[in-house]
Amino acid sequence: MDPLINPFSPGAGTQPPELAGREDVLAEIQVTLERIRRGAFSRSSIFVGLRGVGKTVLLNRVRDYAVEKGFLTIFIEAHEEKSMPVLLLPHLRKVLIKLNSYEQISELARRGLRVLKSFASVFKAKLSLNEAIDVELGIEAEAGTADSGDLEHDFAELLVVVAEAAKARNAAICMIIDEIQYLRETELSALIMALHQVSQNRLPLVLYAAGLPLILGLAGRSKSYAERLFTFPGIGVLEAEAARQAIERPAAAQRVFFTPEAIAAILEKTGRYPYFLQQWGYEAWNTALISPVTAVDVEIATARAIRQLDESFFRVRYDRLTKREKDFLFAMMCVGGEQQRSGEIADQLGVKPTSIGPLRSSLIRKGMIYSPAHGDNAFTVPLFDEFLRRQTGISAGVSS
Ligand SMILES: Nc1ncnc2c1ncn2[C@@H]1O[C@H](COP(=O)(O)OP(=O)(O)OP(=O)(O)O)[C@@H](O)[C@H]1O
Ligand SMILES: [Mg+2]
Repeated sequence: MDPLINPFSPGAGTQPPELAGREDVLAEIQVTLERIRRGAFSRSSIFVGLRGVGKTVLLNRVRDYAVEKGFLTIFIEAHEEKSMPVLLLPHLRKVLIKLNSYEQISELARRGLRVLKSFASVFKAKLSLNEAIDVELGIEAEAGTADSGDLEHDFAELLVVVAEAAKARNAAICMIIDEIQYLRETELSALIMALHQVSQNRLPLVLYAAGLPLILGLAGRSKSYAERLFTFPGIGVLEAEAARQAIERPAAAQRVFFTPEAIAAILEKTGRYPYFLQQWGYEAWNTALISPVTAVDVEIATARAIRQLDESFFRVRYDRLTKREKDFLFAMMCVGGEQQRSGEIADQLGVKPTSIGPLRSSLIRKGMIYSPAHGDNAFTVPLFDEFLRRQTGISAGVSS
């Protein structure tokens, strides 16, 4: 089929042609946003799931809905090497400047800017690009608020002041954080404490975030708050019917059809993982010469899809690992199964179980593995074990 009109869209955060099987989550997002806008309480949400299941795509939807409903919206992606204040402050500042620019002067928005300035000075987040605006508005740092140096305390003060400024304007704020597992423990707990204050003061601010399953273990001592403040919708593989729709609907819109055998083969090969469905749909479309797409087309497409995934989806993650980290993952692959005990991995590596701790922690920090239960390990990237197996095949082939 003509690749120019191929509807499928494999890629990180790329909008799928059909957002299949997420109706319930989408409906809940709508209700939550509407309640927050009306000043009612609603819990924030953290979408939890493996790589490529569609978390970012859902956060994009949250942003669209929030914008439609008139929310002031902030979207950041947490990063291993950047602190939360550095990432968030410029956005909070934009929100305040916007609130301040609404018709009448808002003392609360200006107070927000003063508090933000004192917070920024303590946490060394550079705001220099916008310094001129502060001068123009006559904003001086407000000494004594959000500048104690204790992130938990100060961030809560800052966020409350910002949310109060929004409330004074009849506005609401939707804060979106992707890859939230990269926040440091202190940052995450500061965020949780801040949201706790926001909800206690019934202020119009909601958080939507997404992260790998390891986020569930990271809330640390703020955990009990986290459980009351957040829902943690699990985002996973699609049900068979939804997976079928994800392939059939975008194609049918262009009068291209799939035989039942072709669909069955795609569902089986992809394990119904959203990213893989897009990749298989894409390759099957380009492979087939005429509609309907058959199981034979899918078979050819499968080889192409795997090659593509190996070069992108899997490869980018693999290349970030050290030799020892790779050895650890190969050991997991050799142990086999869905989850592997740390002891078994150590045995496989021929070392003492106590010695693999640091390696395991660094793989968890890099988001390559997570611990589904104490002492267990699992890949965060679906079908990663098969990718590793192909690597051994290739290297064996090259060396022989
Ligand atoms: N419900 C869905 N139906 C069909 N395709 C989907 C669905 N959700 C996501 N996709 C597709 O899956 C791919 C991955 O989506 P996305 O990048 O949002 O995943 P993710 O969970 O954020 O992954 P990562 O953890 O790697 O960031 C994209 O190509 C997207 O178009
Ligand atoms: Mg993502």
